[in-house]
Amino acid sequence: MDQRVFVREVPALDAALLDALLSQYPYDDHRRHRRIEPAKALAYLRERVERAASRPGTVRLVAEERATGQPAGLMLVQSIPEDSALLGLSMAGIPFLLARPDHPAPRRIYRALLDSLPFVVQREGLDHVSTRIDTADIAAYQELTDSGFRLVETLVSMAYDTERRGSGTIDPAVFGFDGVVRPVEAADVDAVAALAATSFTLNRYHLDEDIPKKDAGELMARWARSYCLDRDNCDVWIAEAAGGKMAGFLGTQLNRDLERHTSILVSGRALLAVADQRGRVGQMLSRAHTWMSRGDYKEADTQLNNYGMIKAAFNLDMDMVRTKYTFHRSFLR
Ligand SMILES: CC(C)(COP(=O)(O)OP(=O)(O)OC[C@H]1O[C@@H](n2cnc3c(N)ncnc32)[C@H](O)[C@@H]1OP(=O)(O)O)[C@@H](O)C(=O)NCCC(=O)NCCS
Repeated sequence: MDQRVFVREVPALDAALLDALLSQYPYDDHRRHRRIEPAKALAYLRERVERAASRPGTVRLVAEERATGQPAGLMLVQSIPEDSALLGLSMAGIPFLLARPDHPAPRRIYRALLDSLPFVVQREGLDHVSTRIDTADIAAYQELTDSGFRLVETLVSMAYDTERRGSGTIDPAVFGFDGVVRPVEAADVDAVAALAATSFTLNRYHLDEDIPKKDAGELMARWARSYCLDRDNCDVWIAEAAGGKMAGFLGTQLNRDLERHTSILVSGRALLAVADQRGRVGQMLSRAHTWMSRGDYKEADTQLNNYGMIKAAFNLDMDMVRTKYTFHRSFLR
């Protein structure tokens, strides 16, 4: 059969396309969380795709089989206004790059979609495009690298199942810490932001030579600050030493949309930083997160080469549940 695909831009996504791409989607973020029902997790994923596709300004490219007209793939491209304003570049992302799970030649689909990207970039005036994929999606990996995307990050996510592993109250003395672990207060916010700005230097912004480093720190500071200001949906733990100095923080966000679909609450996207490394404060705050943050699962994500963070998570019996690649492509060169 003719396996070629063609790509067209659509004003909206239809249900048949989403059924074909998502009903058996093999790379869902929550497929290793044993208490999350796969069908419900996929309903959540579908909502995310629909929401991204309906955001004004989003470019929706659909791949179709030439022979049958059947849907074969989808790529959404959208600008990231906050990053663009801060970094002085026109930053965009591909929030979803999907190929039909039963298609025999997914690379062909990704290739066709990615071949259309330079046209979109030129028309929309974009400078920089990022995307993130599951590491199991080897076809996407191969076509992204082939089409000029560069790997900037490999993320490892670990999860703590509260029901299975238990909860408790932290005792700082157990970690040799003379001080307390407590929830964030308004007076901590500037110190949290300052520590975030200088601590997170292993991430995709810092590792991309096309992005200014100073502003990359400010991005992380804003991220940490946003957690401190949203008490309903975030937990932020502060390690405060006996003299009152902040020794570290851990902030995390509750996934309310996933909870609405699955009745399971995941506390994730955690940010953890300590003032003086290797003093067991990171281990202590990770224990605070797993025991005292709200949620059925507590997640920690980090770079594959962040040995300290991975060790702290493994020490707490967290399970490795997800690995992802992040890619950047600059169109300024
Ligand atoms: C990652 C981080 C939070 C760890 O906190 P920490 O207080 O330095 O770590 P701890 O002293 O509690 O160590 C925890 C475990 O990791 C090990 N470890 C810590 N740093 C390590 C490193 N660089 N390499 C290898 N092992 C390391 C420790 O030996 C300990 O294991 P053990 O108890 O079996 O000996 C800290 O290094 C940090 O702030 N890094 C910058 C920000 C960051 O990368 N955050 C994580 C991603 S959000």
